[in-house]
Amino acid sequence: EKGGYDHFMLKEIYEQPRSVRDCLRGRVYPQQGKVQLGGIKEYSDKLKNVDRIIIVACGTSWHAGLVGEYLIEEYARVPVEVEYASEFRYRNPIITEKDLVIAISQSGETADTMAAIELAKEKGATIFGVCNVVGASIPRITHAGVYTHAGPEIGVASTKAFTAQVTVLTLIAFYIAQQRGAITRNKLIEYLTELNEIPDLIEQTLKTNESVKAISEKIKDSRNCLFLGRGSSFPVALEGALKLKEISYIHAEGYPAAEMKHGPIALIDEEMPVVFIATKHSSYEKVISNIQEVKARKGQVIAIVTEGDTAVRSMADYVIEIPQTNEAFVPLIATIPLQLLSYHIAVMRGCNVDQPRNLAKSVTVE
Ligand code: F6R
Repeated sequence: EKGGYDHFMLKEIYEQPRSVRDCLRGRVYPQQGKVQLGGIKEYSDKLKNVDRIIIVACGTSWHAGLVGEYLIEEYARVPVEVEYASEFRYRNPIITEKDLVIAISQSGETADTMAAIELAKEKGATIFGVCNVVGASIPRITHAGVYTHAGPEIGVASTKAFTAQVTVLTLIAFYIAQQRGAITRNKLIEYLTELNEIPDLIEQTLKTNESVKAISEKIKDSRNCLFLGRGSSFPVALEGALKLKEISYIHAEGYPAAEMKHGPIALIDEEMPVVFIATKHSSYEKVISNIQEVKARKGQVIAIVTEGDTAVRSMADYVIEIPQTNEAFVPLIATIPLQLLSYHIAVMRGCNVDQPRNLAKSVTVE
């Protein structure tokens, strides 16, 4: 059942070229510059006029929501707020019938996310679901939705469900952009052509496995680990830290790279590995200065870089090269080596990768 892999988690990491392809199937038409989302098409007028989107989710799904915020604001130009479902529901949120709420949940059963949806529904908002398990409770209480189609995820640590959620949010961002005329058809053709190639790029990225394993060996005995990124790579850093802490029990934190100087920098010494997402995109130069700050304090730098990068390579202790892609799609690629890193470290530390202590696959309690 694990298809020759030692753990479900590894199997599911390796399934991602396929799960992302399944998620794109029938929804992306690059030649026509068109995104089609059957599940929400009745709401296209609503999307044309919506002036605020609120995303609610927990854990990894919340990280996907943060990526969604960047994409929807950048391409569809609609303001987005991303909320922890558990916080949203308990603070008398301001919400009206004009709002669109997108609830993200792999299991479709998370109690806090369900309760947040019910509250928003009472206040008259339109609710979309982004779920993986077909026919689960959340898809049944939402007005409309887009399934992630990642297939069953058995490992407790979410991997392929996360990349599928990010894929769906990318599609939703371009769909709204298209409905509102916020993007030209030529631009859409360009983006969708590249999006269609992402499954192949994920396949290519999986080839970093051996080098990621070698790096894992070097840092597996650390007690702490920092993950830093900017822009849409900030949620990728959060997700990298969550994966590491939940399956290897190493304390890890994700931060926006520029926030390091406001506190976390105090933690850096030769014992501290710092994982940077330092691809060649908008904040590249700034992230390089952050890498220098870490090196000046003798921290160990592990950097995820764009293929062929030399500047970061000359500073970092270890680099992991990922293929060049449009900035919009970096989270889908940069996440892969971080999943592998936490996987190998957890295996090396003798942890129960598929069933980490104290965690359940779906959290149906508040
Ligand atoms: C982390 C993880 C959890 C879930 C969270 C929400 O790997 O799996 O953080 O993401 O419990 O679950 P869903 O998406 O089922 O609502």
